[in-house]
Amino acid sequence: MRHCLDTTDFTVEEIDDLIHLATDIIADPKKYAHVCDGKKLATLFFEPSTRTRLSFEAAMMELGGNVLGFAEANSSSASKGETVGDTVKIVSCYADIIAMRHPLEGAPRVASFKSDVPIINAGDGGHSHPTQTLTDLLTIYREKGRLNHLTIGLCGDLKFGRTVHSLIKAMCRYTDVEFVLISPKELAVPDYIKTDVLDASGMKYTEVEHMEDVMPRLDVLYMTRIQRERFFSEDEYLRHKDAFVLDPEKLESAKSDLTIMHPLPRVHEITVDVDDDPRAKYFEQAKNGKYIRMALIMTLLKWGGALE
Ligand code: CP
Repeated sequence: MRHCLDTTDFTVEEIDDLIHLATDIIADPKKYAHVCDGKKLATLFFEPSTRTRLSFEAAMMELGGNVLGFAEANSSSASKGETVGDTVKIVSCYADIIAMRHPLEGAPRVASFKSDVPIINAGDGGHSHPTQTLTDLLTIYREKGRLNHLTIGLCGDLKFGRTVHSLIKAMCRYTDVEFVLISPKELAVPDYIKTDVLDASGMKYTEVEHMEDVMPRLDVLYMTRIQRERFFSEDEYLRHKDAFVLDPEKLESAKSDLTIMHPLPRVHEITVDVDDDPRAKYFEQAKNGKYIRMALIMTLLKWGGALE
């Protein structure tokens, strides 16, 4: 049995297989409509979500399976003090696979020690969001036709943004990828990501405070939200909330084939008039999330012996 706790739990070849399976599902969804007949996915969401939870549920339904779960900690016995370990021990009696989001970093790993079925990390605090990263890789692959030879701008809250940390870790394993890290100093990528991931893999990166300076160089621009829920004080959040806003004017100097991504939800950081720009791919990206999660559910169930 294998879990999905971090993107690096998978080899590059396994990620390629997931991307190719998702691409095949997109091309011929009917072929997969009964693959998970009789199987159940539990979604245990201790933190709010729209895309991740609903795309997991849609993914399992489109594979012919069923879903159960909760969308907030208060509607589960976590509110009475039940531990994550006990919760998953119980839920693994009712479901064949579990997708779990939790505010505490490492909670899905703790869950994996107790679970009798595969655990998928659907986001744990500021740490990791591997299924968002798989979604991002599928989107980049579909838009660019490659995961190598790319200059990727990451913009916004690079300190607390778990999607950014996961994407950096995943892309470090490809050739000739350069990151341009665009953030105010207070929201820069944490030092451990720079030393343990970027420097350790020899990846080229630069840090800048203004997106206009680097826009013409970028193949992909990955915008992120300034996350109110991760700040210690409201004042600190208010100081940063409008730090970077992408609008049509800032895109004037960008490449004609730039891919604009955002894990969503968006608040102020991309103006709605950018949505009509053919380079805006963030809604496609959200749609891709369902297909890569279908591929992941099938793959983990197969590896665990629950599917042929
Ligand atoms: N991208 C993402 O994780 O969105 P949700 O918080 O809505 O799941």
